[in-house]
Amino acid sequence: MTLNIVVGITGGIAAYKAVGVVRALVLAGHDVHVVPTEGALRFVGRPTLEAISRNPVHTDLYEGVAEVRHVAIGQAADLIVIAPATANTIAKLAAGLADDLLGNTVLASEAPVVIAPAMHTEMWRNPATQANIATLVERGVTVVGPAVGQLTGTDSGPGRMEEPDVIVAAALARAASPSTRDLAGRRIVVTAGGTREPLDPVRFLGNRSSGKQGVAIAEAARARGAEVTLVAANLEIAEPDGCDVRRVSSALELQAAVTDAAQGADAVVMAAAVADYRPAAVSESKIKKDASGDGLTLELVRNPDILAGLGAAPHDGTLLVGFAAETEPDDERLLELGRSKRRAKGADLLVVNRVGWSEGFATDENSVVVVDRDDTVVTRLHGTKTSVADGILDVVVSKLTSTTERTKEADPA
Ligand code: CTP
Repeated sequence: MTLNIVVGITGGIAAYKAVGVVRALVLAGHDVHVVPTEGALRFVGRPTLEAISRNPVHTDLYEGVAEVRHVAIGQAADLIVIAPATANTIAKLAAGLADDLLGNTVLASEAPVVIAPAMHTEMWRNPATQANIATLVERGVTVVGPAVGQLTGTDSGPGRMEEPDVIVAAALARAASPSTRDLAGRRIVVTAGGTREPLDPVRFLGNRSSGKQGVAIAEAARARGAEVTLVAANLEIAEPDGCDVRRVSSALELQAAVTDAAQGADAVVMAAAVADYRPAAVSESKIKKDASGDGLTLELVRNPDILAGLGAAPHDGTLLVGFAAETEPDDERLLELGRSKRRAKGADLLVVNRVGWSEGFATDENSVVVVDRDDTVVTRLHGTKTSVADGILDVVVSKLTSTTERTKEADPA
């Protein structure tokens, strides 16, 4: 389906990368209308934007008055993407200002809005910016990034605009999701990352989970209106905005945090990679090499299975979603492993994904299969972790809705 997409470009150095966003959307077959601010045109020229978008580019509020352009562009849009979104634009959007064509376009539109912030780390962390972002997230705006990395000049940190392909994927996923506020009034707990089991003050046993998939689920749930608690175990990426983040490190800490947060939650999504074993003893001081021998034997003890614990305890009305990270190459056997893992853990849904040396961890893409209590494959998802997150939440929403309806039928009062 061809979408009418407005790409707002605002005045930051990352504006040159927005050309890549426009180009990818045009190549994907969409009708793209670029609305740059005056500031943006100091970084990229109008002819470039017109050539790449294949449409005329307007900025002036007082041009095209006869066709009521200041509202027409927004009214016609199916999706608005603002990349880069500067701190100033974010503040203006939060306040609902309409002092330029982009501000008017956003206010006059009912289309989903996706923004890709780009600014220096201090500006991003400033409480004013964070409060503005929280306001926008609350209103259903999808925030993509910022990424962590090298900024203009010599500094680095969170504030870099996400890469164009990530922005485009997130924007199209947002436009495709059927009802964007379908988790309003729900409380969702998500675990993300990988646990670390300490050996001594400087060492741990860990795993390669970056937290990307779990964070994508938390972000997507937030954007769809849920109140989200994110139990974050050693994330390698920035924490999402608008979520109640509880930082943990070991499996035992994760267990305590998730057990507490799960009380009364509508769903618990266990995306974290939890260590099955931990060192039997944690040394108070750094373990020294033993000069007499070539090897070292560690004694490990079992960690509790947190998901199975939640599944076995009374959890009325809380949908339990587990993940299975498997290296099995055969698709059918992979599915069988997922089905038996779901049964063993008492989960309502199990998301099976294949992991390996180059698959699953720290990448931006994922391929998963979701199975339910009837052992049915409810969906197969492939794409960015953002689009996979939305696909998983589509299943969560449908299960929650059918449970709510069944409860209403059983107790009509
Ligand atoms: N999980 C958990 N507690 C553990 C281990 C795993 O709650 N001690 C959860 C994970 O968060 C995930 C699911 O159980 O949702 C499956 O995790 P996975 O590592 O695939 O399975 P394991 O139970 O560890 O089984 P195995 O390693 O034997 O395949």
